[in-house]
Formats: sequence, structure tokens, C-alpha cells
Amino acid sequence: VMPALIAASALAPTLQAAQAQSAAPQFTRDNGAPIGENRNSKTTGDMGPVLLEDSHLIEKLARFDRERVPERVVHARGTGAQGMFTATADISEFTRASLFVPGKQTPVFVRFSTVIHPSGSPEGMRDPHGFATKFYTDEGNWDLVGNNLPIFFIRDAIQFPDMIHSLKPSPVTNRQDPNRFFDFFSATPEATNMLAHVYSNLGTPASYRTMDGNGVHAFRLVNKDGEIIFAKFRWISRQGVKNLNGAQAATAPFNYLTDDLYSEIGKGNFPKWDLMIQTMKASEFARLNYNPFDDTKEWLDVPFRKIGEMVLNKVPDNFFEWTEQSAFAPSNMVPGIEASPDRMLQGRLFSYADTQRYRIGANAQSLPVNRPRVAVVNNNQDGQLNAGGRTADVNYFPARTAEKATAQAYRQSSYEVAGMVDAKPISKTNNFEQAGIFYRSLSAADKADLIKNLAGDLGVVTSQRTKTIMLSYFSQADRDFGTRLAKAVNVPMAEVDRAVAEYKAANPEQMAAR
Ligand code: HEM
Repeated sequence: VMPALIAASALAPTLQAAQAQSAAPQFTRDNGAPIGENRNSKTTGDMGPVLLEDSHLIEKLARFDRERVPERVVHARGTGAQGMFTATADISEFTRASLFVPGKQTPVFVRFSTVIHPSGSPEGMRDPHGFATKFYTDEGNWDLVGNNLPIFFIRDAIQFPDMIHSLKPSPVTNRQDPNRFFDFFSATPEATNMLAHVYSNLGTPASYRTMDGNGVHAFRLVNKDGEIIFAKFRWISRQGVKNLNGAQAATAPFNYLTDDLYSEIGKGNFPKWDLMIQTMKASEFARLNYNPFDDTKEWLDVPFRKIGEMVLNKVPDNFFEWTEQSAFAPSNMVPGIEASPDRMLQGRLFSYADTQRYRIGANAQSLPVNRPRVAVVNNNQDGQLNAGGRTADVNYFPARTAEKATAQAYRQSSYEVAGMVDAKPISKTNNFEQAGIFYRSLSAADKADLIKNLAGDLGVVTSQRTKTIMLSYFSQADRDFGTRLAKAVNVPMAEVDRAVAEYKAANPEQMAAR
């Protein structure tokens, strides 16, 4: 301790002397050394070359060269805010998760985003919109990484890279192309429900404050007696759900979503959401005409109950350190909240932490935005940019000399499974029913906007076959939906009906399930 103290106090007078000359803080290099020149490189005379020994110049350029980390492979364009979650209901009969004690407050960080477009894209582009919440609970971080839409395009993680490739710009032209993604979706009938949602005005929210959020998947909740129930989570906006139509979104200012969030929070108009939960026991699954772990479906007939409230009351002081370096992962769960067999969720449990070890590094979890607000006690160590401050000699387990406890109370649930190991589609696919229910729930104006938005992209598709198959899906969801869309993109209904008949002949099980 002593030598460091002496060195610091010896340096102090020099800095103080420099600062005394002006009120502004003294400019330094990254090593803390004060510098005297920051506008002219060191050269050999008036006409001579720049010197390699100008370490300040080299450092400045080298740091600049490294300012970018890879952007998120999806959800690159986003914005974040800090806030507080307050539990309002006792749900200990369902989960032992420690945050759900009425009145208990848990700090949160939320990041909103679009999905497909890059970090510098206009915010008015149609997309599902991310709604990711990190709860810094007193039993570790719980990340609820959801979207504004209640369902998803596909139901198995093995299809995610293909789907995203089809939606991202073409590797040849570098442009997003409806020919490519409708080619994919024409072989993916389970996407019909999500496509109906994303092409409605829900795909272009009026602001992040006026979006609901959905955990989408079912999660396994476990109470203190080890009893299991399945649950879905939803944020309901207290600001109400408000969207733009296609024309309004196309002319929306470049940063309108970020600007709105920052300016409203800045004015003290803090946005609020209610956290809602739906629960289902495994014994209830048999009555459903869909698979409860299929993320292309909502649990439409299961009531919601309110379990908490969230307010966002501060924007981060530094965009990169908080919003860009935030690492949300569905695998960040806490005792009492576990994974369900949802095949998408199971893939996400791997993918997020994996991409973050690549995007930010092995120690991403120890950055201020990601760090749990409780002590981390384990033997994970080292790696790039480690500032963990380990001082203990025992970095192995078990260790008689320095025990670390693994309490029985925190064991994950145990349950029986049965079945053949195989790679097969799920049962009860029921691909179209909920898309029809959604269509019929829309107002006349919202239906018209959906047809217009969807016809805009589907009309670009040059393959008549792709167009007709897509129409056959929307028409199986709802005849009126299909008919109006077919008219808007100039395909005769007789052709659509032929494609419907082909689909039914090829998918007898799907028809039987309905
Ligand atoms: C971000 C993968 C499905 C919501 C990401 C990222 C990856 C990813 C790699 C970037 C993470 C990062 O760089 O930090 C996947 C895979 C999926 C999937 C493999 C399917 C198996 C979903 C679903 C939802 C969703 C179903 C909604 C329920 C989000 C959100 C973000 C995100 C909100 C942005 C988080 C943030 O703001 O940092 N996803 N995703 N994803 N994903 Fe997914």
C-alpha cells in the first residue's frame, strides 16, 4: 500500500500545477500522463515526416480504430433505460422467485430494439420490436428477453439462422428482398400468425412507451415445495398501445423512438408498465387444440393476473456502456423460474450467452450494466479484460480448506420425462387458427392497413407460386383476409383455393388436429 500512496502524492503537485493555470481538467494519455499538445503531430521540422515515437498520436488513432465492437447479429438498433420494478402480488404458490414479494423493489434495465435492421437504421422500419428486461434481483439477474408481439415466426431454434438470413439483406445485392423472405415463409406455414401481427400496425409502434412486451415462451415456475406450473409473462403499457400506419412510419424521423423515450424520461414523464402472468398446469394441456410450448401460439383462453409494476425513470449516462454492452440472455434465470420444453427457448438458452462471449467477451457479465447486484461466488476466472479482483487461492471445488455452499433449497426442479429420442415436428401444429382470430379482432381501419402493408411487400414477389402459397396460408387463417389480399396483389382466388387444397392434402394431421 505505502509505495502506491507515495507515488500518487508525488504526482499530485504536477497535475495541480497544470490545472491551476486553467479551470478545465488537464488532458492526459490513457496512462494518466498529462499532455501538452493535442492538435499537432510530432514531425521532423516543417516539411518532415511524422514520428513513430509520437505515442500519444499512435494511441489516439489505435483507440479510435478499436471503438466498434461487433453489433448484435439481430436487434442491433435499440435504446435503453433504467428503472424500478415493484411486485404487487404474492405468487409464492407458483414460484419461489424472491422478487415477487408484494411491495418489494428490484432495479431494472430495459432495452428496446428493432430486429433485422442495422444499428444505424431508421427507427420507422417494420419489425417485431424487442422488449428486454434485466431484473437485478437479490438472487441474481433474471432476464425476460421478449418482444412487443405475443408470438414468434418459427417454433424450433434450428430454423432461426435460416429465417434471419432470409430477412437480412441478400449476400449478393446487400438489399433486403421480399422475394427471399417470402420464399422462406412460403415453406413455413407456422409463421402466418406472426406475419399477420408484424404487418399490422403493431410492426410500427408510435413509441417504445406505447408498446406491450411479451416473454412469448412458456416458462416453468417452481414453488418452495418443488411444485411446477407453467407461465407466460406480459408487460401491459400504462400509456396504451399506439401504433403508426405504414405512411406515418415511412416518414417518421430517423430516431423517433429513441428521441421520444429520452425526451419523455427527461421531462419526468416516466413510462410505466404492469407485469401480468398467465399460468397453466400440465394437467390442463390435453384440452388445448395447440401445443402449449409452441411459441407461434398465444394462450388465448387463459386469464392474466397482475403481479407487478415497472417504471423507467432514467436514461443511461453513457449509451455504449449501458445500451450497447448490455447482455440479455434467456439463460439468466433465478431460483423459481426455469425453462419449459419450448424448442425455441431451449435454443435461446445457448445462443445469447454464446454470442455475448463473442460480441463483448468472456467477462461480459462483470460489466456494470450486466453485473449482478449480489456477490458472484464461483471459480470461473481470467479471460480477456478481467477485473474480478480475485484474491483467494482456492479456485476449485470441492475444497475442504475453503468451503462454498450449494444449498438444497436452490436445486432445480426434478420431473419425469418419457418419449422416443427423435427430430420430428411438434404435435398439434394448428398453423392458421390464431392468425384468423387476430385478423377478426382488428378494427376495419386496422384490417385495411394490414392488407395494404402486407400487399406492399407481397406484391414485390416475382414468383407466382410463392405468392399463391402465401395467400393460401392467409386465406386458411381467414377467408376475408385471403380474398382481400389476393385482390390487392392480383392473384385469382381460384389459384389460391387450389393451393389450399394442395396444402390440406399434404397435411392431413394438421387438419385432424383442428
Ligand atoms: C437478441 C438469437 C428468438 C428477442 C438476440 C441475439 C441473438 C438472438 C444471437 C443477439 C444478442 C446479443 O448480441 O446480445 C435468437 C435465437 C432465437 C431468438 C437463436 C430463436 C431460437 C427470439 C425470440 C424473441 C427474441 C422468440 C422474443 C421473445 C430478442 C431480443 C433481443 C434479441 C429482445 C435483443 C436483446 C437486447 O436488447 O440486447 N437474439 N433469438 N429472440 N432477441 Fe433473439
